[in-house]
Amino acid sequence: MARPLATIKWGMFASSPGKKHESKKALYAELVEQANALFEGEHDFIANAANLSALLFHSLPDLNWAGFYFLKEDGLVLGPFQGKPACVRIAVGKGVCGTAAQQRRTVVVPDVQKFPGHIACDSASKSEIVVPLIRFDRVIGVLDLDSPNLSRFDEEDRRGLEALADVFLNATDVGD
Ligand code: SME
Repeated sequence: MARPLATIKWGMFASSPGKKHESKKALYAELVEQANALFEGEHDFIANAANLSALLFHSLPDLNWAGFYFLKEDGLVLGPFQGKPACVRIAVGKGVCGTAAQQRRTVVVPDVQKFPGHIACDSASKSEIVVPLIRFDRVIGVLDLDSPNLSRFDEEDRRGLEALADVFLNATDVGD
């Protein structure tokens, strides 16, 4: 059973009262633990994607959107998320999400206005990170996080979110 979460800033994050994290690395380590606990015994991809987007949205500071797009026949289609309603379909190769899916690598965008072809779903978004979800060498979707702050995401976020994407993929039936 996952422990209750609180939304607070770096160094103040506490999944249990009084517990502090000194670094993003420690926070992501805790989130990996919590994601494993949330997914325990549960393989449904909608349920697990919904819970992971809620976990991220309510645990990481300075986000305005966190969620999934899954690859269907004709492109990426919106999945479970937290934040304002978003664009439903994104072609592979388009926007930050479609670029991460096409290039099969995490894309970190410090300033979305400088990313050619960025798709603005929420005008509050200023920076973004998109992690491709790759299962048995096949891209099955992306995990997308947006922030209202410029340069919100760094290498530590990339490593942490890629680890969480792996936890999700290993725990979840994603059509394989
Ligand atoms: N900005 C994304 C679109 C999805 S939203 O941010 C939720 C993109 O350029 O692909």
